[in-house]
Amino acid sequence: MKAWGGRFAEAPDQLAADFGRSIEVDSELAEDDLTGSMAHVRGLARAGLLTTEERDALLAGLEDLLVEVRAGSIAWDPALEDVHLNLEMALAARIGPVAGKLHTGRSRNDQVATDLRLWLRRRVGELDACLVAFETALVRLARRHATAVMPGHTHIQPAQPVLFAHHLLAYVEMAERDRGRFADALRRADVSPLGSGALAGAGFPLDRETTAADLGFAGVTRNSLDAVGDRDFVVETLAAAALSMVHLSRLAEEIVWWSNPRFGFLRPSDAFSTGSSMMPNKRNPDPAELIRGRTAGVIGAVTGALTLLKGIPASYQRDLQEDKPALFAALRTLEASLRVMTGLLDGLRVDEGHMAAAAGEGYSTATALADVLVERGVPFRAAHGIVGTLVGAAETAGVTLDQVPDGAVTTTLEASDDPVARGLATDTAIGDVLRAAATVDGAIARFDVVGGTAPSRVAAELRAAEERLGLV
Ligand code: ARG
Repeated sequence: MKAWGGRFAEAPDQLAADFGRSIEVDSELAEDDLTGSMAHVRGLARAGLLTTEERDALLAGLEDLLVEVRAGSIAWDPALEDVHLNLEMALAARIGPVAGKLHTGRSRNDQVATDLRLWLRRRVGELDACLVAFETALVRLARRHATAVMPGHTHIQPAQPVLFAHHLLAYVEMAERDRGRFADALRRADVSPLGSGALAGAGFPLDRETTAADLGFAGVTRNSLDAVGDRDFVVETLAAAALSMVHLSRLAEEIVWWSNPRFGFLRPSDAFSTGSSMMPNKRNPDPAELIRGRTAGVIGAVTGALTLLKGIPASYQRDLQEDKPALFAALRTLEASLRVMTGLLDGLRVDEGHMAAAAGEGYSTATALADVLVERGVPFRAAHGIVGTLVGAAETAGVTLDQVPDGAVTTTLEASDDPVARGLATDTAIGDVLRAAATVDGAIARFDVVGGTAPSRVAAELRAAEERLGLV
């Protein structure tokens, strides 16, 4: 090994060399490695460590390599261990011995820490665009079905009716928090480790701040030992990715249930459904199930990264090489899942009639009746009891709450402990008032608070989301 073999008499054992090799994984950093090297070369020249000719020769060689990397035409040599040594040797093959000056005042330890931060910045930018596209699909779907009502559930039991658009906008909130978490992780990763050397700092008076600014970093790391051993930003990014996958998984779970004909709320398009090799009748929501399933791996990646760090001392340890496979895979999984979910939502067929019919099931408007009694002076606890009795009566009679007869209303009010409720029994209009409040539209209209599902509130939130996403 030309890069470090000077003190060794024996060639590396093939098994050990294969075991330590990372080029198959870290070639993904090639572009960032070259970007970092170019800034480092300019820094070396500024420090008087390279002549202008040497600097220009190195930069031209690195530029050529960047073109090759982008074209995918570079050939990686597995004998050269990792992306850093591959690129340094490829540079030497092109520009000759002056390439040997590139690694002045630099270690692969500060180099890889820099590369990974640059890579993350690019990658998180791509993920953010996917999150925005996902939000756009949710908002467009909400707009297409802006007035559709559906049952809202708690405990997976019918609870209160809500607007379908309100439900979709819940996922927009989650996605916005995801974007914030990625941006936040990136903010702490936005410092340059370059100049930290192997662990103690560079042995030359490098102007680290200028090189950091050259690379677009907001600043420099303040401790060389921490700088080469810090992978907090990997954990933070993976945590953001895992939570984002959990959000997609929850939506996937709902799509799976709601596309069951027993629900019949939704139907994914043929393009996002699969059949069975045995049962000709089958229509399966596999893409949603796979998003749910792949969430497991991304959650595992966070645990993996934390476990990787827990036993290693400050400064660089070779264990840190293992940060990359799971990080790269997790972000690929999240990106693919976001893209698939976006496509699935775009092609989703929504059965508004089925959802509306289900919205009133399970006496879902009962709270609205209690609220009406409260408006007439009945304490909420007493109102809750009265409506509970009415629900029982309706269930026995096999009717819905907007069909309970006056007789049942009067008897129930008369039997109340609360004097105001008993007084209402003589009000001849009270049956009509309660039945009107018991309709799905009547119940939904009551949730007229910021964040509530009343149509005017949802319309305002939908409009705000459309404006933020530049859709209007
Ligand atoms: N491939 C290594 C990694 O990803 C680069 C740093 C290696 N440093 C070393 N001293 N062996 O962590």
